Amino acid sequence: MTHLSLETFVAELNELRVGAERMLAEATDAAALESARVAFLGAKSGRLKTAQRGLGQLAKADKPAGGRHFNAVKQEVDALFAAAHERVSAPIDAHRTTAIDVTLPGDSIRLGRVHPLTQTIRRVAAIMSHLGFEVVEGPEVEDQWHNFEALAIPAEHPARDPLDNFYLSVASHAEPLLLRSQTSTVQIRVMEERDPPLRIVSLGRVYRPDTADATHYPMFHQVEGLLVEPGITMAHLKSVLRSFASSFLGGDVHVRFRPSFFPFTEPSVEVDMEWNGRWIEMGGAGMVDPAVLEAVGYDPETVSGFAFGLGVERIAARRFGVADIRDFYRNDVRFLEQFSDRGQA
Ligand code: DAH
Repeated sequence: MTHLSLETFVAELNELRVGAERMLAEATDAAALESARVAFLGAKSGRLKTAQRGLGQLAKADKPAGGRHFNAVKQEVDALFAAAHERVSAPIDAHRTTAIDVTLPGDSIRLGRVHPLTQTIRRVAAIMSHLGFEVVEGPEVEDQWHNFEALAIPAEHPARDPLDNFYLSVASHAEPLLLRSQTSTVQIRVMEERDPPLRIVSLGRVYRPDTADATHYPMFHQVEGLLVEPGITMAHLKSVLRSFASSFLGGDVHVRFRPSFFPFTEPSVEVDMEWNGRWIEMGGAGMVDPAVLEAVGYDPETVSGFAFGLGVERIAARRFGVADIRDFYRNDVRFLEQFSDRGQA
């Protein structure tokens, strides 16, 4: 009878162990685990059983060494099976709770923030709300009545020049519409709909075909304020603007009026505010012209009002120390992220 060599016996057992290792590692459920068990540890024709029969074919002198190796491999395969069994039958939730340590520091999260112009608009709106002004909105595409005529800007007025406005050609309208050139349009829209008394503020985009430079842009934002009720004077206008400026810029801000002209106010003024020892132009204002009150059906004998229009970019540039308003529109995150909106309304 020819004997099985010890080398062949050991090599076959080693190969069996590697095979068991691979199959158990790939087993992810109970059924796969059972197949692996039958294939390697099966009592009748499992590979270990088959290998055990080879033990009898070894030369007598090789039997002790062969037996030791067989036992070692069997123990290893048993241990691999036990570990795989534990892994496959562990509840999923247990895996999860042990896999995530919530106390470890996380990746740093980049927080976004509100655009500095939006911050400014919200802040202005909040301050004006505290002063009793309701925030209202108006359309950006306007007709000539609301942008010009009701505001006492007649057809021949230079402000209506096609070179100074974005007129739209809309076939269904005899008269061209335009992108509003000022938020004063909202004064008319609100007065047409409501009776006095009223206190409103409107913040939004306006459009003019200006060449972009450090202080101009073809689209910019305005704050429009309007207060109409019996007995309103320039003193009310000045105190409201002064309260606003003090709240917005902080401290006791001085407000200065310079004589000016706007078709829809009489008298009209330019508004300057003193801040850090410098006088800054903030916009225009005045007493609502009686012709405007009449255009919306109000009686100028019983009510009077004031109006003002300020530039949002100008206010924001002052507050944040920005020298070129074009920076607000470049969408460069390195610029925008410098303006913290924490603690802002
Ligand atoms: N609408 C004017 C402009 O765009 C600003 C303005 C001036 C608004 C006087 C007003 C006002 O309400 O009373 O230049």
